Amino acid sequence: MSRRLLVTSALPYANGSIHFGHLVEYIQTDIWVRFQKMSGHEVHYVCADDTHGTAIMLRAEKEGITPEQLIDRVWREHKRDFDGFLVGFDNYHSTHSDETRALSEGIYRALKGRGLIDIRSVEQFYDPVKSMFLPDRFIKGECPKCGAKDQYGDSCEVCGATYTPTDLKNPYSVVSGAAPVRKASDHYFFRLSADECKRFLEDWTQQGDHLQDEARNKIREWFDQGLNDWDISRDAPYFGFEIPDAPGKYFYVWLDAPIGYLGSFRNLAARGGVDFDAFTKPGGDTEMVHFIGKDILYFHALFWPAMLEYAGYRTPTKVFAHGFLTVNGEKMSKSRGTFITAGSYLDLGLDPEWLRYYYAAKLGPTMEDIDLSLDDFVARVNSDLVGKFVNIASRAAGFIHKRFGGKLFSSRFTERFESELPGLREAAGVIAAHYDAREFGKALREVMALADVVNQFVDKHQPWELAKHNDTEQLHYVCSIVLNAFRLLTIYLKPVLPAVAARAEAFLNVEPLTWADAQTLLPAGHAIRPYEHLMTRVDQKQIAALVEANRENLAPTAATHSPQRHAQHQENAVNEATKPETATAAATAPAPAAPAPAPAEAATPTISIDDFMKVDLRVARVARAEHVEGAEKLVKLTLDLGTETRQVFAGIKAHYEPSKIEGRLVVMVANLAPRKMRFGESQGMVLAASADGSGVFLLDVDSGAAPGMRVK
Ligand code: MSP
Ligand code: ZN
Repeated sequence: MSRRLLVTSALPYANGSIHFGHLVEYIQTDIWVRFQKMSGHEVHYVCADDTHGTAIMLRAEKEGITPEQLIDRVWREHKRDFDGFLVGFDNYHSTHSDETRALSEGIYRALKGRGLIDIRSVEQFYDPVKSMFLPDRFIKGECPKCGAKDQYGDSCEVCGATYTPTDLKNPYSVVSGAAPVRKASDHYFFRLSADECKRFLEDWTQQGDHLQDEARNKIREWFDQGLNDWDISRDAPYFGFEIPDAPGKYFYVWLDAPIGYLGSFRNLAARGGVDFDAFTKPGGDTEMVHFIGKDILYFHALFWPAMLEYAGYRTPTKVFAHGFLTVNGEKMSKSRGTFITAGSYLDLGLDPEWLRYYYAAKLGPTMEDIDLSLDDFVARVNSDLVGKFVNIASRAAGFIHKRFGGKLFSSRFTERFESELPGLREAAGVIAAHYDAREFGKALREVMALADVVNQFVDKHQPWELAKHNDTEQLHYVCSIVLNAFRLLTIYLKPVLPAVAARAEAFLNVEPLTWADAQTLLPAGHAIRPYEHLMTRVDQKQIAALVEANRENLAPTAATHSPQRHAQHQENAVNEATKPETATAAATAPAPAAPAPAPAEAATPTISIDDFMKVDLRVARVARAEHVEGAEKLVKLTLDLGTETRQVFAGIKAHYEPSKIEGRLVVMVANLAPRKMRFGESQGMVLAASADGSGVFLLDVDSGAAPGMRVK
């Protein structure tokens, strides 16, 4: 029976590059989708960029562009990466779209109409300098337990303690460096704890087979901890959709993100040929299937079904959660070079199907993490894929061309094929069942076992010996059997290796292969085309180059800030651009001209350590940097010293764009006598290097240092 499927992968955030972790999911989904399509089912595979939220807004601001420009650029990067890895979306859209906006408003109105929206005042941290509420991820301070500096508002990466932002000592805003204040504001809540909602979710998650067992158990635990109402609004400034009839209030990014699945699908349907309602309204025989990582299960197994249910849409048929990627047994790491981006792999010219094959070999239907061992990667691709599969074709095709004018054996040999290679065609059923059950590892083990059998057949008959002894008929027969076997293996691998399969189809001179083609053999006397090169071996050196290309030398505190942190989804990840730029100030300053060699300074008299200690040097954070009306050289800096703030006028206007230095750490002289200037009082001095005719270079402070620390 033919199935009708709407399939999605989670929408990647539009503020970062696609990396190997993401690819676990997109490759997994793509393989499943390709398998279903090959099996003759109607499948629509949609995805989109997840574009809203504070992180994206701030990053665009940092880059001096609009959020729209940022998400447009990232969309193109993501699209290129997905195309490069042969992820065949039927539509790749954006949540910042008319479709997603209209659907979000509609769903919200429906929830409100059912009395499931509540408005409540909530007190939160607020950045008085930046005039905005701060998501937990944007507040740092000292760990209340161990005192470690620069810890996020939810947990300490040094001692592992978890807490709320209010527990932090000396909290500061990651955005401006200012000390946050508490401020109340009205928030909109989805009343998940309402009785009818709770009952529905208990039922939906615990009965039926929408979820994997492990997922169901996880959710059981969440229920036991109590289901809270869900805060779905954020105050301006925010990049997102404004809530209808609520000026200044925006949908929280996680509200419109899953709606983006439907938005992308509606955008596809609008081009014709697909019935939107048939896949999104209750009661049909279509299926809606979501592939996600285990970190976003909460959103997909609780919030999302509830939103759909109470807004009159169908609920998901399946939510398939997978585990996280580790590389060489450890969390991906920038300093080790194992935080590998999709773009770097493609740029180095590595074959995307190597990775597809490797991931597939490792993937199963569980939420277990999967490990990419780089040595094992090289070994498996070379021994299985190239050694066992690709070689079969090259061994047989040459003889068919040289000896038989490119034509296969001229009589039918279906029965003989069966007896020579028993089980090769029947295996189609077992392998199909594995693919359908997302048992890709099992499917590939099955296929490779068959490849072994085919290679044994070749070794037994030794076509090269037959050729040498001019045993023409037998040679023709054996090579024809082998090419038919190769064709079957190609069908079995096609969901994983679509490009290799396309090249094989070209040289076998056949139409695109479907799963049903495993029931037949090539016709007697079929003409093939010249053998096309299918795939090369991986060279260990290519992997070394890949790791090198992804290695970043980061200060230790920055390296521990992994995007895999569990709290990431409270808000989208704070990324490089929104982190305080303690380690990257040089990159944000306008590129200085090559510095002139410093002229020898006039020798200064020696001083004692006591003399030196009279100068109170302190680490300060630039909370704010502003142009000064009418000043030629000066920038007005508001410096955060931890316990107090100072106003300093610095002669750096020609060398630094004020907005670019906000948030960074500098060194200041804290006990310099205040000086009245035309524009106000200057309460100190920031240190910078310069020489005649050179630029001015602010001193940088390694990350880990906190405002107020003494420099000595
Ligand atoms: N934007 C949200 C999803 C919204 S869906 C309505 C998001 N984005 S993400 O970019 O962080 O992740 C996208 C998908 O990639 C998620 O399913 C996530 O679990 C998956 N992965 C991201 N890093 C991963 C690994 N290191 N390993 C495996 N999958 C991971 O979440
Ligand atoms: Zn701690």
